[in-house]
Amino acid sequence: PVLVVDFGAQYAQLIARRVREASVYSEIVPHTITAAEVAAKNPVGIVLSGGPSSVYEPGSPSLDKGILELGIPTLGICYGFQVMATQLGGEVAQTGRREYGATDVTITGGGGTLLAGQPEQQTTWMSHGDSVSKAPDGFEVLASSDATPVAAFASDERKLYGVQWHPEVKHSEFGQRVLENFLHTAAGIPADWNAGNVIAEQVARIRHQIGTGRVICGLSGGVDSAVAAALVHEAVGDQLTCVFVDHGLLRQDERRQVEEDYVKATGVRLITIDAEKQFLDALAGVTDPETKRKIIGREFIRTFEQAQADLVAETAADGDPVRFLVQGTLYPDVVESGGGSGTANIKSHHNVGGLPEDLQFELVEPLRALFKDEVREIGRQLGLPEVIVARQPFPGPGLGIRIIGSVDKERLEILRHADAIARAELTLAGLDNSIWQCPVVLLADVRSVGVQGDGRTYGHPIVLRPVSSEDAMTADWTRLPYDVLAKISNRITNEVKDVNRVVLDVTSKPPGTIEWE
Ligand code: XMP
Repeated sequence: PVLVVDFGAQYAQLIARRVREASVYSEIVPHTITAAEVAAKNPVGIVLSGGPSSVYEPGSPSLDKGILELGIPTLGICYGFQVMATQLGGEVAQTGRREYGATDVTITGGGGTLLAGQPEQQTTWMSHGDSVSKAPDGFEVLASSDATPVAAFASDERKLYGVQWHPEVKHSEFGQRVLENFLHTAAGIPADWNAGNVIAEQVARIRHQIGTGRVICGLSGGVDSAVAAALVHEAVGDQLTCVFVDHGLLRQDERRQVEEDYVKATGVRLITIDAEKQFLDALAGVTDPETKRKIIGREFIRTFEQAQADLVAETAADGDPVRFLVQGTLYPDVVESGGGSGTANIKSHHNVGGLPEDLQFELVEPLRALFKDEVREIGRQLGLPEVIVARQPFPGPGLGIRIIGSVDKERLEILRHADAIARAELTLAGLDNSIWQCPVVLLADVRSVGVQGDGRTYGHPIVLRPVSSEDAMTADWTRLPYDVLAKISNRITNEVKDVNRVVLDVTSKPPGTIEWE
């Protein structure tokens, strides 16, 4: 792999993704990694990420000095660039001249291996207070900016490279080219990591783990569980059973997409559990958002575990009970929870009727090394329907947290209908890829006066909440074209019973969350 050394900001994940976009496999490691640990991973290249600190701060994150002596091609970015400069005998100065945001740099001397073939003047994305004032001995200076005489340096001989700007950020005009030059030319790493390889590798790995055992997977209708299950099915076929809980809080057509489209594309064996009544009974009269969430979560676990227990009991008879559980854990979850050793076992709850208390499932997590866009690509290669692969995020508690007020069947029907109209019109207008998601919310306890035909109405408002986002941590409201909004509003007020008003949520996150509850 290429190791991306994380100096403590969000940059490392972005760098790891960009490296993979250059068809090279990457892994994130903490900056506390030792040279011996690096050597043991046998990396073909190293990228030192940016970070929020100054190399002058006491206790600022450092790097084992031995790492740069290993002879592994290394690229330092921003803070990583300054760490390199300091360790290799260059100088970093507190010039008091901050550069933040779009910054012009001038490439000098043809740019060397790293910046070869790039325009002399270009815009880059910078975010730094300190500057490298002198390159280490034997290093060539490749670029400069107003505030920084040394904005990039290189030693082809030692295979060490650095840039002050952030090539992983799209605002850096030729950023991806910098990474590709480093990976393919300077480090000589072939561009051979792709979805096809991942599938082959994972299928082999899953077969090895599961052997002839039986395995279960909960499908949510979302991308991750769908792709994880498809991979496991590819590997072990009918040793896998999928379970889909219909809790009655799904959107229009979602159950059919799983039961028909997905099953047809993959051939998985699927059990659907009809739990609408159970969920709606448990939710009756509840209006507090957190209480709703807890109830839905609790009922979900109950239902799923019952299905597990049934399956285990059924298969135990032939001496080969279900031992494995598939989870659609993604790489960002792994990184954010501290890396994980990959050997987690989850203990089944002891409220499951008839199960021994110590029953454990071994987890199968075929997406642990992957980012979301890679998961989608693998799903496509496995032939999954686009409605599933391209799905926007949808919360686990479903429409239950998009009805403001208590949840019942009638309200769900109103919201489901309005949501279907909004989604259909957004798709028709070709906007699916330019929005992150668009929750549609029913204000079930609010009524307003309207007029329709010759009569006065007293109906509910529907809220449209279109948002743009990179990762759902922050978001902005999407400026949808007025004609699309008009069309959605017209159709919803005309076609959906009891709705006489459509309003647009124009709040960013923060302060608003994406969902209303
Ligand atoms: P908020 O409302 O916190 O949502 O800004 C951020 C993102 O998370 C989704 N979301 C959930 N996803 N289970 C999920 O799987 C949940 O309980 C849940 N709540 C919110 C939300 O749709 C948005 O994409």
